[in-house]
Amino acid sequence: MKTFTEYQTIVTGEREPRANHHTLLSCVLPRPIAFVSTVSPEGVPNLAPFSFFNAVGSSPPAIIFSPATRANNTDKDTLNNIKATGEFVVQVVTHDIKEAMNQASANYPTGVNEFEQAGFTQVPSVHVKPPRVGESPVQMECKLVQVVKVGDGPLSANIVIGHVLCFHVADGYLLENGTVDVEKVDLVGRMGGDWYSTIRDRFELGKPGPV
Ligand SMILES: Cc1cc2nc3c(=O)[nH]c(=O)nc-3n(C[C@H](O)[C@H](O)[C@H](O)COP(=O)(O)O)c2cc1C
Repeated sequence: MKTFTEYQTIVTGEREPRANHHTLLSCVLPRPIAFVSTVSPEGVPNLAPFSFFNAVGSSPPAIIFSPATRANNTDKDTLNNIKATGEFVVQVVTHDIKEAMNQASANYPTGVNEFEQAGFTQVPSVHVKPPRVGESPVQMECKLVQVVKVGDGPLSANIVIGHVLCFHVADGYLLENGTVDVEKVDLVGRMGGDWYSTIRDRFELGKPGPV
């Protein structure tokens, strides 16, 4: 193993938020992508991807993702809808739907249905109002636990904590041990800038002793 001796230290408080954004996103990667569907209080479906996303607990199954406050200091439709309704669905993003997912991330005006704009099929959910994305093989219906704000103003975080009420796994994608077939699902991750990665290049590392 190589030990590094020289480092350049970047103090975040002395930089523009956008510069910190680029540095952060180029060193925390690849990030999984939550493709999040919500409905507005008027009942209009909304769909957008978020790569500030992770699984954070199993009892109950819990996830977090963060729709950041926009550069113009307004909140994203996804966050407004979740605060108003307390419900959302997280779907995974496969290689097959990457372009359409990207299209759904365009800055459409409030009230525009991104399912229709990006060509996705709305499938009714079982426990929540937001529809599921028929082109994603894994969907998680979620109830809002809490929104945690970190900072304020443009590019600040709004961490949405969700309780996963149920998983929907497409036929043929669930293995007998209860896990999703990683090879088949062919997920993509977000890197820095416009770059993405796949999970096709994998290796195994057994748990270390002592057990
Ligand atoms: C792959 C990908 C990941 C993204 N991740 C985030 C994210 O974690 N947080 C965020 O605020 N915006 C993220 N975006 C941008 C949002 O998807 C975009 O702002 C979208 O228009 C928000 O839609 P809404 O206003 O309907 O909620 C991402 C975009 C892409 C393509």
